[in-house]
Parts: sequence; C-alpha cells; structure tokens
Amino acid sequence: MPRLTGRLAVVTGGSTGIGAAVSALLRHEGATVVRASRNPGPSEDGDIPIAVDLAADEGPDQLAAQVLAIGVPDLIVSSAGGFLLAPFADTSLGDLDELYRVNLRAPFELARRLLPPMKSRGRGRHILIGSVADHRAFSGNAAYSATKFGLRGWHEVLEEEYRGTGVLCSLVSPGPVDTPLWDPFDPDHRDDLPSRAVMLKPSDVAEAVLWIASRPAHVGVSVLRIGPA
Ligand SMILES: NC(=O)c1ccc[n+]([C@@H]2O[C@H](COP(=O)([O-])OP(=O)(O)OC[C@H]3O[C@@H](n4cnc5c(N)ncnc54)[C@H](OP(=O)(O)O)[C@@H]3O)[C@@H](O)[C@H]2O)c1
Repeated sequence: MPRLTGRLAVVTGGSTGIGAAVSALLRHEGATVVRASRNPGPSEDGDIPIAVDLAADEGPDQLAAQVLAIGVPDLIVSSAGGFLLAPFADTSLGDLDELYRVNLRAPFELARRLLPPMKSRGRGRHILIGSVADHRAFSGNAAYSATKFGLRGWHEVLEEEYRGTGVLCSLVSPGPVDTPLWDPFDPDHRDDLPSRAVMLKPSDVAEAVLWIASRPAHVGVSVLRIGPA
C-alpha cells in the first residue's frame, strides 16, 4: 500500500544524485512530485519537472509560484546543492557566493514562500538535506561548510518557530554519498577522500527522507544523521 498517496511533494535538485532518488521513491509511494532543477529533463512516471535556476535572484520565487499554482505542498525536500573542495586560501568570495545562493539562500527563500500556506492549512513537512559538514569540520570545506552549518542553524530556528503549527521541520545530514557531486574530485584516486565503494548510495538517503515523510503527524524528526558504517 503506497504511503504517500494524495500528497504533493516538491523536491529540488531532482535531476541527479540524492534528489533524483528521493523523487523516484516518493513517486513510488504515490506522491505527486514536482521535481525542480536547472535541467530536470522530461517527466518521469508522471512527475512534474520544472526547469529553474535556484541560484538566480528570482529562481526560488518562480518555483514557489509554479508550485502554488498546483497546490499547497505536503512535503518540501530541498536537496539542490553545490560542493567545493579547496583550501580556504584558494577559496574566493565568488566561490562562497555561488554555494551560498544554491545551498542556503534558495531553500530559505523557497520556504519563505511555501511554509506560510502550509502553516495556514495546519500540516506539512519541511526537509532540508544538510551534510556531515553541517556539524563537523573538514579541511578544504570552508565555503561548503559555511553554507551547511548555516543551513543547520536556520533549520533549528524554523523548528522552534513552527512548533505546534502542524508544520514539522527536519534536517537529514548524510555522510559521503556516491553521486555526481564527487565527479570533479575523483575520490577513487585520492588518499584523502573515501572511495565511492564505501560511500552511501543515493537510495539510502531517499529511504531516510521517506521514513520521515511517512511518520504520523504526531511524530517530529529533528535531525537524522546517516553515514557509511
Ligand atoms: N554526495 C554527497 O556526498 C553528499 C553528502 C552530504 C550532503 N549532500 C548534499 O546533498 C544534496 C544533493 O547533492 P548530490 O550529492 O545529490 O549532488 P548532485 O548529484 O550533484 O545533485 C545536485 C542537484 O542540485 C541541482 N542544482 C545544482 N545547482 C542548481 C541550481 N543553481 N538551480 C537548481 N538546481 C541546481 C542539480 O541539478 P541541475 O544540474 O539540473 O540544476 C542536481 O539535481 C546537496 O545539498 C549536497 O550538499 C551530498
């Protein structure tokens, strides 16, 4: 029996990696999925692809408007993100701004538009994809970590502000996951990175998201941290 029949879900970053796995699993469980990214490709199993650059000034607002034209979502999964491995001394303000816009500004603005109608209706779940780098420091992660620590801080504020409204906020913080995010860094040929074989699979993170999304409304999940065994 599908667990999410009749639910409307918005998944950002749904073209590859974690977001694609989340979209597929939510669809499998009966949800109507709006799958947003710059290049989402054609509809898959009846989902609703939306092409949007979430790093652009108006990108998150444009996505929110298109979602609300369909309905008030039951579930938001903000997975779109960028990554960078570089020493702090080689990290430019442009690098920081690029990651900030997609990793933090975009989910912030999307939530600013979508959480109020969810609160008025009195139910919904907001799930952010954080990272092990939202609570642990790694060399080479200056810009990425700044955005992910920021994401966690913002999530904790949201949790407080939405407590008792019916809108439940969760942060899923995975360790390394074998996705195209690692392609520019070739982890299988570096001693300082885990090999792809030991990383989590995108489906592992998708299962974590589904577990949260399918809890009954009286169960909140604040933070879910998963990583390779
Ligand atoms: N992989 C890991 O080891 C790992 C670990 C912990 C956390 N995470 C987090 O998980 C999330 C997903 O990462 P992933 O590993 O699945 O990486 P990925 O395969 O590279 O996916 C990134 C997604 O974000 C979308 N995206 C990037 N820039 C965008 C923009 N400006 N506007 C709209 N969409 C944009 C991409 O789609 P388009 O190219 O179509 O725009 C793609 O769907 C990220 O937030 C990442 O920080 C990843």
